[in-house]
Amino acid sequence: MSDTSATIKVGSDNHQLQVKPGSVGPDVVDISSLYRDAGVFTYDPGFTSTASCESKITYIDGDEGVLLYRGYPIEQLAEHGDFLETCYLLLYGELPTESQKTDFDHRVTRHTMLHEQMARFYSGFRRDAHPMAIMVGVVGALSAFYHDSTDIADPYQRMVASVRMIAKMPTIAAMAYKYSIGQPFIYPRNELDFSGNFLNMCFAVPCEEYKINPVLSRAMDRIFILHADHEQNASTSTVRLAGSSGANPFACVAAGIACLWGPAHGGANEAALEMLQEIGTVDRIPEFIERSKDKDDPFRLMGFGHRVYKNYDPRARVMQRTTHEVLAEVGLKDDPLLDVALELERIALNDEYFIEKKLYPNIDFYSGITLKALGFPTTMFTVLFALARTVGWIAQWKEMIEDPEQKIGRPRQLYTGATRRDYVPITSRK
Ligand code: SDX
Repeated sequence: MSDTSATIKVGSDNHQLQVKPGSVGPDVVDISSLYRDAGVFTYDPGFTSTASCESKITYIDGDEGVLLYRGYPIEQLAEHGDFLETCYLLLYGELPTESQKTDFDHRVTRHTMLHEQMARFYSGFRRDAHPMAIMVGVVGALSAFYHDSTDIADPYQRMVASVRMIAKMPTIAAMAYKYSIGQPFIYPRNELDFSGNFLNMCFAVPCEEYKINPVLSRAMDRIFILHADHEQNASTSTVRLAGSSGANPFACVAAGIACLWGPAHGGANEAALEMLQEIGTVDRIPEFIERSKDKDDPFRLMGFGHRVYKNYDPRARVMQRTTHEVLAEVGLKDDPLLDVALELERIALNDEYFIEKKLYPNIDFYSGITLKALGFPTTMFTVLFALARTVGWIAQWKEMIEDPEQKIGRPRQLYTGATRRDYVPITSRK
Protein backbone atom coordinates (compact mmCIF):
# COMPACT_ATOMS: atom_id res chain seq x y z
CA MET A 1 0.00 0.00 0.00
CA SER A 2 1.72 3.19 -1.19
CA ASP A 3 -0.68 5.88 0.21
CA THR A 4 -0.18 7.02 3.77
CA SER A 5 -3.93 7.01 4.40
CA ALA A 6 -6.97 4.76 3.97
CA THR A 7 -10.62 5.76 3.64
CA ILE A 8 -13.48 3.85 5.29
CA LYS A 9 -17.05 4.69 4.38
CA VAL A 10 -19.51 4.24 7.28
CA GLY A 11 -23.05 5.01 6.19
CA SER A 12 -22.76 8.13 4.07
CA ASP A 13 -19.58 9.39 5.77
CA ASN A 14 -15.99 8.84 4.63
CA HIS A 15 -13.35 8.60 7.33
CA GLN A 16 -9.63 9.03 6.67
CA LEU A 17 -7.38 6.66 8.59
CA GLN A 18 -3.59 6.90 8.80
CA VAL A 19 -1.55 4.05 7.27
CA LYS A 20 1.67 3.31 9.16
CA PRO A 21 4.49 1.47 7.34
CA GLY A 22 6.67 -1.16 9.04
CA SER A 23 10.41 -1.56 8.31
CA VAL A 24 9.35 -4.80 6.63
CA GLY A 25 6.04 -6.67 6.32
CA PRO A 26 2.46 -5.41 6.01
CA ASP A 27 1.57 -1.77 6.69
CA VAL A 28 -1.10 -1.12 9.34
CA VAL A 29 -4.23 1.02 9.19
CA ASP A 30 -4.47 2.97 12.46
CA ILE A 31 -8.10 2.58 13.55
CA SER A 32 -7.66 4.01 17.07
CA SER A 33 -9.83 7.04 16.20
CA LEU A 34 -12.54 5.02 14.41
CA TYR A 35 -14.98 4.59 17.31
CA ARG A 36 -14.63 8.24 18.34
CA ASP A 37 -15.15 9.52 14.75
CA ALA A 38 -17.50 6.92 13.23
CA GLY A 39 -19.14 5.25 16.24
CA VAL A 40 -18.25 1.73 15.06
CA PHE A 41 -15.80 -0.96 16.20
CA THR A 42 -13.81 -3.25 13.92
CA TYR A 43 -14.51 -6.97 14.31
CA ASP A 44 -11.74 -9.57 14.08
CA PRO A 45 -12.22 -12.73 16.21
CA GLY A 46 -8.83 -14.40 16.75
CA PHE A 47 -7.13 -11.19 15.55
CA THR A 48 -6.35 -12.68 12.13
CA SER A 49 -5.95 -9.18 10.61
CA THR A 50 -5.15 -7.13 13.69
CA ALA A 51 -1.80 -5.72 14.82
CA SER A 52 -2.06 -5.33 18.60
CA CYS A 53 1.14 -3.31 19.00
CA GLU A 54 4.30 -1.96 17.39
CA SER A 55 7.35 -4.13 18.05
CA LYS A 56 11.02 -4.30 17.09
CA ILE A 57 11.73 -7.78 18.47
CA THR A 58 10.66 -10.57 16.10
CA TYR A 59 9.57 -10.59 12.48
CA ILE A 60 7.81 -13.49 10.75
CA ASP A 61 7.10 -13.73 7.02
CA GLY A 62 4.57 -16.57 7.00
CA ASP A 63 4.45 -16.86 3.20
CA GLU A 64 8.23 -17.11 2.81
CA GLY A 65 8.82 -19.10 6.02
CA VAL A 66 11.13 -16.45 7.49
CA LEU A 67 11.75 -15.86 11.21
CA LEU A 68 14.07 -13.06 12.38
CA TYR A 69 15.03 -12.22 15.98
CA ARG A 70 16.02 -8.52 15.94
CA GLY A 71 16.74 -8.98 12.22
CA TYR A 72 18.91 -12.11 12.52
CA PRO A 73 17.61 -15.30 10.79
CA ILE A 74 16.71 -18.03 13.27
CA GLU A 75 18.77 -20.58 11.31
CA GLN A 76 21.96 -18.52 11.80
CA LEU A 77 21.35 -17.91 15.50
CA ALA A 78 20.62 -21.63 16.07
CA GLU A 79 23.74 -22.60 14.10
CA HIS A 80 26.30 -20.15 15.46
CA GLY A 81 25.09 -18.82 18.80
CA ASP A 82 23.88 -20.09 22.16
CA PHE A 83 20.63 -19.55 24.03
CA LEU A 84 21.92 -16.87 26.41
CA GLU A 85 23.27 -14.91 23.43
CA THR A 86 19.76 -15.08 21.94
CA CYS A 87 18.33 -13.94 25.30
CA TYR A 88 20.66 -10.93 25.30
CA LEU A 89 19.72 -10.14 21.69
CA LEU A 90 15.98 -10.31 22.37
CA LEU A 91 16.26 -8.21 25.55
CA TYR A 92 18.75 -5.56 24.43
CA GLY A 93 18.26 -5.55 20.62
CA GLU A 94 21.89 -6.24 19.63
CA LEU A 95 24.22 -9.25 19.71
CA PRO A 96 26.49 -8.95 22.77
CA THR A 97 30.22 -8.21 22.60
CA GLU A 98 32.41 -10.76 24.35
CA SER A 99 32.52 -8.72 27.57
CA GLN A 100 28.75 -8.11 27.47
CA LYS A 101 28.15 -11.84 26.94
CA THR A 102 30.47 -12.79 29.81
CA ASP A 103 28.72 -10.30 32.11
CA PHE A 104 25.23 -11.45 31.06
CA ASP A 105 26.08 -15.15 31.47
CA HIS A 106 27.48 -14.36 34.92
CA ARG A 107 24.36 -12.39 35.94
CA VAL A 108 22.02 -15.16 34.80
CA THR A 109 24.13 -17.88 36.45
CA ARG A 110 24.05 -16.00 39.79
CA HIS A 111 20.24 -15.98 39.77
CA THR A 112 19.58 -19.68 39.05
CA MET A 113 18.93 -20.64 42.69
CA LEU A 114 15.37 -20.47 44.08
CA HIS A 115 14.46 -19.17 47.54
CA GLU A 116 14.71 -22.34 49.64
CA GLN A 117 11.12 -21.98 50.93
CA MET A 118 9.80 -22.25 47.37
CA ALA A 119 10.74 -25.93 47.37
CA ARG A 120 7.88 -26.46 49.83
CA PHE A 121 5.32 -25.49 47.16
CA TYR A 122 6.07 -28.68 45.28
CA SER A 123 5.12 -30.96 48.16
CA GLY A 124 1.63 -29.42 48.04
CA PHE A 125 1.05 -30.98 44.59
CA ARG A 126 0.18 -34.61 43.88
CA ARG A 127 3.17 -36.47 42.40
CA ASP A 128 1.14 -37.03 39.22
CA ALA A 129 0.24 -33.34 38.84
CA HIS A 130 0.90 -32.16 35.28
CA PRO A 131 4.21 -30.23 35.45
CA MET A 132 2.56 -27.30 33.63
CA ALA A 133 0.12 -26.97 36.55
CA ILE A 134 3.12 -26.78 38.87
CA MET A 135 4.82 -24.21 36.62
CA VAL A 136 1.78 -21.92 36.65
CA GLY A 137 1.64 -22.08 40.46
CA VAL A 138 5.32 -21.79 41.29
CA VAL A 139 6.12 -19.05 38.74
CA GLY A 140 3.16 -16.99 39.95
CA ALA A 141 4.45 -17.43 43.50
CA LEU A 142 7.81 -15.83 42.58
CA SER A 143 6.08 -12.46 43.08
CA ALA A 144 5.63 -13.44 46.74
CA PHE A 145 9.38 -13.87 47.18
CA TYR A 146 11.04 -11.23 45.02
CA HIS A 147 9.34 -7.99 46.08
CA ASP A 148 12.55 -6.11 45.25
CA SER A 149 11.95 -6.59 41.52
CA THR A 150 8.22 -6.09 41.09
CA ASP A 151 8.17 -2.27 40.78
CA ILE A 152 7.72 -2.18 37.02
CA ALA A 153 8.23 1.61 36.89
CA ASP A 154 11.89 1.13 37.88
CA PRO A 155 14.07 0.15 34.86
CA TYR A 156 16.65 -1.44 37.17
CA GLN A 157 14.00 -3.62 38.83
CA ARG A 158 12.58 -4.52 35.41
CA MET A 159 15.97 -5.81 34.33
CA VAL A 160 16.56 -7.68 37.60
CA ALA A 161 13.14 -9.34 37.25
CA SER A 162 13.95 -10.21 33.61
CA VAL A 163 17.25 -11.86 34.51
CA ARG A 164 15.64 -13.65 37.46
CA MET A 165 12.87 -15.04 35.26
CA ILE A 166 15.30 -16.34 32.62
CA ALA A 167 17.63 -17.77 35.26
CA LYS A 168 15.05 -19.45 37.49
CA MET A 169 12.81 -21.07 34.91
CA PRO A 170 15.23 -24.00 34.31
CA THR A 171 15.49 -24.58 38.07
CA ILE A 172 11.70 -24.48 38.54
CA ALA A 173 11.17 -26.74 35.51
CA ALA A 174 13.79 -29.27 36.60
CA MET A 175 12.29 -29.35 40.12
CA ALA A 176 8.85 -30.01 38.61
CA TYR A 177 10.32 -32.96 36.71
CA LYS A 178 12.22 -34.32 39.71
CA TYR A 179 9.11 -34.00 41.88
CA SER A 180 7.03 -35.94 39.33
CA ILE A 181 9.47 -38.89 39.40
CA GLY A 182 10.08 -38.83 43.16
CA GLN A 183 13.75 -37.93 42.95
CA PRO A 184 15.51 -35.28 45.06
CA PHE A 185 15.94 -31.79 43.65
CA ILE A 186 19.39 -31.10 42.17
CA TYR A 187 20.81 -27.62 42.79
CA PRO A 188 22.10 -25.49 39.90
CA ARG A 189 25.87 -25.60 39.32
CA ASN A 190 27.58 -22.31 38.51
CA GLU A 191 30.40 -23.93 36.55
CA LEU A 192 27.95 -25.35 33.98
CA ASP A 193 26.51 -23.48 30.99
CA PHE A 194 22.78 -22.77 30.76
CA SER A 195 21.65 -25.96 28.99
CA GLY A 196 24.21 -28.25 30.59
CA ASN A 197 23.08 -26.99 33.99
CA PHE A 198 19.46 -27.69 33.06
CA LEU A 199 20.19 -31.24 31.93
CA ASN A 200 22.21 -31.80 35.11
CA MET A 201 19.32 -30.57 37.32
CA CYS A 202 16.95 -32.90 35.43
CA PHE A 203 18.99 -36.07 35.07
CA ALA A 204 21.72 -36.04 37.77
CA VAL A 205 21.15 -37.99 40.99
CA PRO A 206 23.06 -37.53 44.27
CA CYS A 207 24.38 -41.08 44.13
CA GLU A 208 26.65 -40.74 41.09
CA GLU A 209 28.42 -38.34 38.76
CA TYR A 210 26.23 -37.21 35.82
CA LYS A 211 28.22 -36.75 32.63
CA ILE A 212 26.80 -34.08 30.36
CA ASN A 213 26.75 -35.23 26.73
CA PRO A 214 27.94 -32.19 24.70
CA VAL A 215 25.92 -33.22 21.61
CA LEU A 216 22.71 -33.47 23.64
CA SER A 217 23.45 -30.29 25.59
CA ARG A 218 24.05 -28.41 22.32
CA ALA A 219 20.80 -29.83 20.93
CA MET A 220 18.91 -28.72 24.06
CA ASP A 221 20.39 -25.23 23.73
CA ARG A 222 19.40 -25.06 20.05
CA ILE A 223 15.84 -26.15 20.90
CA PHE A 224 15.65 -23.31 23.42
CA ILE A 225 16.81 -20.83 20.74
CA LEU A 226 14.11 -22.05 18.33
CA HIS A 227 11.37 -21.54 20.94
CA ALA A 228 12.59 -18.21 22.38
CA ASP A 229 10.14 -15.78 20.75
CA HIS A 230 7.54 -15.67 18.02
CA GLU A 231 5.95 -12.22 17.61
CA GLN A 232 2.42 -11.74 19.05
CA ASN A 233 1.39 -15.40 19.51
CA ALA A 234 -1.39 -16.26 21.98
CA SER A 235 0.78 -16.62 25.09
CA THR A 236 2.85 -13.51 24.32
CA SER A 237 -0.35 -11.54 23.76
CA THR A 238 -1.55 -12.87 27.12
CA VAL A 239 1.62 -11.63 28.82
CA ARG A 240 1.28 -8.22 27.15
CA LEU A 241 -2.38 -7.89 28.14
CA ALA A 242 -1.68 -8.93 31.75
CA GLY A 243 1.29 -6.55 31.87
CA SER A 244 -0.77 -3.66 30.48
CA SER A 245 -2.65 -3.48 33.80
CA GLY A 246 0.65 -3.01 35.67
CA ALA A 247 0.76 -6.58 37.01
CA ASN A 248 4.23 -7.72 38.06
CA PRO A 249 6.31 -9.69 35.51
CA PHE A 250 6.20 -12.94 37.47
CA ALA A 251 2.38 -12.92 37.46
CA CYS A 252 2.38 -12.01 33.75
CA VAL A 253 4.68 -14.92 32.86
CA ALA A 254 2.46 -17.26 34.91
CA ALA A 255 -0.47 -16.11 32.74
CA GLY A 256 1.62 -16.79 29.63
CA ILE A 257 2.41 -20.31 30.86
CA ALA A 258 -1.30 -20.98 31.38
CA CYS A 259 -2.08 -19.88 27.81
CA LEU A 260 0.84 -21.80 26.28
CA TRP A 261 -0.48 -25.02 27.84
CA GLY A 262 -3.36 -25.25 25.35
CA PRO A 263 -3.03 -28.03 22.70
CA ALA A 264 -3.61 -25.51 19.90
CA HIS A 265 -0.50 -23.62 21.08
CA GLY A 266 2.45 -24.86 23.11
CA GLY A 267 0.64 -28.03 24.16
CA ALA A 268 0.87 -29.23 20.55
CA ASN A 269 4.33 -30.77 21.02
CA GLU A 270 2.93 -33.14 23.66
CA ALA A 271 -0.18 -33.74 21.51
CA ALA A 272 1.92 -34.32 18.37
CA LEU A 273 3.96 -37.09 19.98
CA GLU A 274 0.82 -38.69 21.38
CA MET A 275 -0.68 -38.54 17.89
CA LEU A 276 2.38 -40.26 16.37
CA GLN A 277 2.15 -42.93 19.08
CA GLU A 278 -1.60 -43.36 18.36
CA ILE A 279 -0.92 -43.75 14.62
CA GLY A 280 1.80 -46.23 15.57
CA THR A 281 2.71 -47.55 12.13
CA VAL A 282 3.13 -46.11 8.65
CA ASP A 283 0.24 -48.16 7.20
CA ARG A 284 -2.26 -46.38 9.49
CA ILE A 285 -1.32 -42.88 8.28
CA PRO A 286 -3.96 -42.60 5.48
CA GLU A 287 -6.76 -43.27 8.00
CA PHE A 288 -5.59 -40.37 10.17
CA ILE A 289 -5.00 -38.04 7.23
CA GLU A 290 -8.65 -38.60 6.19
CA ARG A 291 -9.87 -38.05 9.77
CA SER A 292 -7.99 -34.74 9.95
CA LYS A 293 -10.00 -33.49 6.93
CA ASP A 294 -13.37 -34.55 8.34
CA LYS A 295 -15.13 -31.49 9.78
CA ASP A 296 -17.25 -33.77 11.98
CA ASP A 297 -14.13 -35.30 13.48
CA PRO A 298 -12.30 -33.12 16.04
CA PHE A 299 -9.01 -34.83 15.14
CA ARG A 300 -6.39 -32.51 13.70
CA LEU A 301 -2.84 -33.36 12.64
CA MET A 302 -1.01 -31.98 15.67
CA GLY A 303 2.20 -30.20 14.74
CA PHE A 304 0.69 -29.16 11.40
CA GLY A 305 -0.70 -25.81 10.36
CA HIS A 306 -0.07 -22.34 11.69
CA ARG A 307 -1.88 -19.02 11.89
CA VAL A 308 1.04 -17.21 10.30
CA TYR A 309 3.22 -19.75 8.46
CA LYS A 310 1.64 -20.69 5.14
CA ASN A 311 4.97 -22.27 4.24
CA TYR A 312 7.37 -24.54 6.08
CA ASP A 313 8.04 -23.26 9.65
CA PRO A 314 11.79 -22.48 9.49
CA ARG A 315 12.11 -23.75 13.05
CA ALA A 316 10.73 -27.13 12.00
CA ARG A 317 13.57 -27.54 9.48
CA VAL A 318 16.21 -26.89 12.16
CA MET A 319 14.29 -29.10 14.57
CA GLN A 320 14.19 -31.95 12.05
CA ARG A 321 17.98 -31.78 11.65
CA THR A 322 18.36 -31.73 15.45
CA THR A 323 16.07 -34.76 15.71
CA HIS A 324 18.39 -36.79 13.48
CA GLU A 325 21.46 -35.65 15.46
CA VAL A 326 19.93 -36.56 18.83
CA LEU A 327 18.52 -39.92 17.66
CA ALA A 328 21.92 -40.86 16.22
CA GLU A 329 23.69 -39.83 19.44
CA VAL A 330 21.38 -41.84 21.70
CA GLY A 331 21.38 -44.82 19.32
CA LEU A 332 17.70 -44.46 18.34
CA LYS A 333 18.18 -43.54 14.70
CA ASP A 334 15.69 -46.26 13.78
CA ASP A 335 12.97 -44.85 16.05
CA PRO A 336 9.69 -46.08 14.50
CA LEU A 337 8.06 -42.81 15.56
CA LEU A 338 10.47 -40.94 13.30
CA ASP A 339 9.54 -43.23 10.41
CA VAL A 340 5.87 -42.43 11.05
CA ALA A 341 6.63 -38.68 11.29
CA LEU A 342 8.69 -38.59 8.09
CA GLU A 343 6.07 -40.60 6.13
CA LEU A 344 3.19 -38.55 7.58
CA GLU A 345 4.97 -35.37 6.52
CA ARG A 346 5.67 -36.75 3.04
CA ILE A 347 2.04 -37.79 2.50
CA ALA A 348 0.57 -34.59 3.96
CA LEU A 349 2.83 -32.32 1.91
CA ASN A 350 1.57 -34.03 -1.25
CA ASP A 351 -2.09 -34.10 -0.25
CA GLU A 352 -4.42 -31.70 -2.08
CA TYR A 353 -6.25 -30.68 1.15
CA PHE A 354 -3.04 -29.74 2.94
CA ILE A 355 -1.63 -28.01 -0.11
CA GLU A 356 -4.81 -25.98 -0.65
CA LYS A 357 -4.98 -24.95 3.03
CA LYS A 358 -1.20 -24.36 3.15
CA LEU A 359 -0.71 -26.67 6.11
CA TYR A 360 2.95 -27.43 6.81
CA PRO A 361 4.76 -28.97 9.77
CA ASN A 362 5.34 -26.45 12.54
CA ILE A 363 7.94 -26.42 15.29
CA ASP A 364 5.91 -28.87 17.37
CA PHE A 365 5.92 -31.64 14.78
CA TYR A 366 9.48 -32.86 15.38
CA SER A 367 10.16 -31.45 18.82
CA GLY A 368 8.30 -34.25 20.61
CA ILE A 369 10.44 -37.01 19.08
CA THR A 370 13.60 -35.07 19.95
CA LEU A 371 12.60 -34.31 23.53
CA LYS A 372 11.56 -37.94 24.10
CA ALA A 373 14.99 -39.06 22.82
CA LEU A 374 16.64 -36.57 25.20
CA GLY A 375 14.93 -38.44 28.04
CA PHE A 376 11.94 -36.20 28.85
CA PRO A 377 8.40 -37.56 29.39
CA THR A 378 5.69 -36.02 27.17
CA THR A 379 4.28 -34.10 30.14
CA MET A 380 7.52 -32.07 30.24
CA PHE A 381 7.45 -31.01 26.57
CA THR A 382 5.38 -27.85 27.03
CA VAL A 383 7.36 -27.03 30.18
CA LEU A 384 10.49 -26.91 28.01
CA PHE A 385 8.65 -24.69 25.55
CA ALA A 386 7.69 -22.35 28.43
CA LEU A 387 11.28 -22.35 29.74
CA ALA A 388 12.56 -21.14 26.37
CA ARG A 389 9.68 -18.74 25.64
CA THR A 390 10.15 -16.92 28.95
CA VAL A 391 12.79 -14.66 27.40
CA GLY A 392 10.39 -13.78 24.57
CA TRP A 393 7.56 -13.06 26.98
CA ILE A 394 9.84 -10.89 29.13
CA ALA A 395 11.35 -9.03 26.15
CA GLN A 396 7.86 -8.29 24.77
CA TRP A 397 6.58 -7.32 28.25
CA LYS A 398 9.56 -4.95 28.71
CA GLU A 399 9.01 -3.42 25.25
CA MET A 400 5.35 -2.82 26.09
CA ILE A 401 6.11 -1.22 29.48
CA GLU A 402 8.69 1.06 27.84
CA ASP A 403 6.35 2.01 24.94
CA PRO A 404 5.23 5.66 25.42
CA GLU A 405 1.91 4.78 23.72
CA GLN A 406 1.28 1.95 26.21
CA LYS A 407 -2.14 1.86 27.89
CA ILE A 408 -4.23 -0.88 29.48
CA GLY A 409 -5.53 -3.33 26.88
CA ARG A 410 -9.32 -3.28 26.82
CA PRO A 411 -10.95 -4.66 23.62
CA ARG A 412 -14.66 -4.03 22.88
CA GLN A 413 -17.25 -6.45 21.39
CA LEU A 414 -20.13 -6.97 19.01
CA TYR A 415 -23.06 -7.38 21.42
CA THR A 416 -25.87 -9.65 20.15
CA GLY A 417 -27.47 -10.52 23.50
CA ALA A 418 -30.81 -9.44 25.01
CA THR A 419 -31.65 -5.75 24.89
CA ARG A 420 -32.94 -3.96 28.06
CA ARG A 421 -35.79 -5.73 29.83
CA ASP A 422 -37.30 -5.48 33.35
CA TYR A 423 -36.84 -7.95 36.18
CA VAL A 424 -39.58 -10.65 36.46
CA PRO A 425 -40.43 -11.95 39.95
CA ILE A 426 -39.91 -15.70 40.22
CA THR A 427 -43.63 -16.26 40.91
CA SER A 428 -44.43 -14.73 37.52
CA ARG A 429 -41.92 -16.71 35.47
CA LYS A 430 -43.21 -19.43 33.19
C1 SDX B 1 2.41 -22.94 18.08
O1 SDX B 1 1.12 -18.31 17.00
C2 SDX B 1 2.28 -18.81 17.11
O2 SDX B 1 3.26 -18.23 16.69
C3 SDX B 1 2.35 -20.14 17.85
C4 SDX B 1 3.72 -20.82 17.87
C5 SDX B 1 4.71 -20.03 18.70
O3 SDX B 1 5.92 -20.21 18.49
O4 SDX B 1 4.26 -19.29 19.62
O5 SDX B 1 4.23 -20.97 16.57
C6 SDX B 1 3.64 -22.19 18.53
O6 SDX B 1 1.41 -22.84 18.73
C7 SDX B 1 2.46 -23.70 16.79
C8 SDX B 1 1.07 -24.32 16.41
C9 SDX B 1 0.88 -25.60 17.24
N1 SDX B 1 -0.50 -26.13 17.12
C10 SDX B 1 -0.75 -27.25 16.43
O7 SDX B 1 0.10 -27.87 15.78
C11 SDX B 1 -2.18 -27.74 16.56
C12 SDX B 1 -2.69 -28.15 15.18
N2 SDX B 1 -2.83 -26.95 14.35
C13 SDX B 1 -4.15 -26.32 14.30
O8 SDX B 1 -4.86 -26.39 15.51
C14 SDX B 1 -4.10 -24.96 13.62
O9 SDX B 1 -3.35 -25.10 12.48
C15 SDX B 1 -3.61 -23.76 14.39
C16 SDX B 1 -4.32 -23.58 15.69
C17 SDX B 1 -2.14 -23.89 14.66
C18 SDX B 1 -3.85 -22.52 13.52
O10 SDX B 1 -5.20 -22.40 13.40
P1 SDX B 1 -5.85 -21.15 12.57
O11 SDX B 1 -4.82 -20.21 12.08
O12 SDX B 1 -6.96 -20.60 13.37
O13 SDX B 1 -6.35 -21.86 11.28
P2 SDX B 1 -7.68 -22.63 11.20
O14 SDX B 1 -7.88 -23.48 12.40
O15 SDX B 1 -8.73 -21.65 10.82
O16 SDX B 1 -7.36 -23.61 9.99
C19 SDX B 1 -7.54 -23.19 8.67
C20 SDX B 1 -8.09 -24.44 7.97
C21 SDX B 1 -9.33 -25.01 8.67
O17 SDX B 1 -10.12 -25.64 7.66
P3 SDX B 1 -11.41 -24.79 7.11
O18 SDX B 1 -12.26 -24.44 8.32
O19 SDX B 1 -10.83 -23.57 6.43
O20 SDX B 1 -12.07 -25.77 6.17
O21 SDX B 1 -7.10 -25.48 8.02
C22 SDX B 1 -7.61 -26.58 8.75
C23 SDX B 1 -8.79 -26.08 9.58
O22 SDX B 1 -9.73 -27.12 9.81
N3 SDX B 1 -6.53 -27.03 9.65
C24 SDX B 1 -6.18 -28.29 9.84
C25 SDX B 1 -5.10 -28.23 10.72
N4 SDX B 1 -4.85 -26.96 11.05
C26 SDX B 1 -5.74 -26.23 10.39
N5 SDX B 1 -6.67 -29.45 9.35
C27 SDX B 1 -6.04 -30.57 9.79
N6 SDX B 1 -4.98 -30.61 10.65
C28 SDX B 1 -4.49 -29.45 11.13
N7 SDX B 1 -3.44 -29.46 11.97
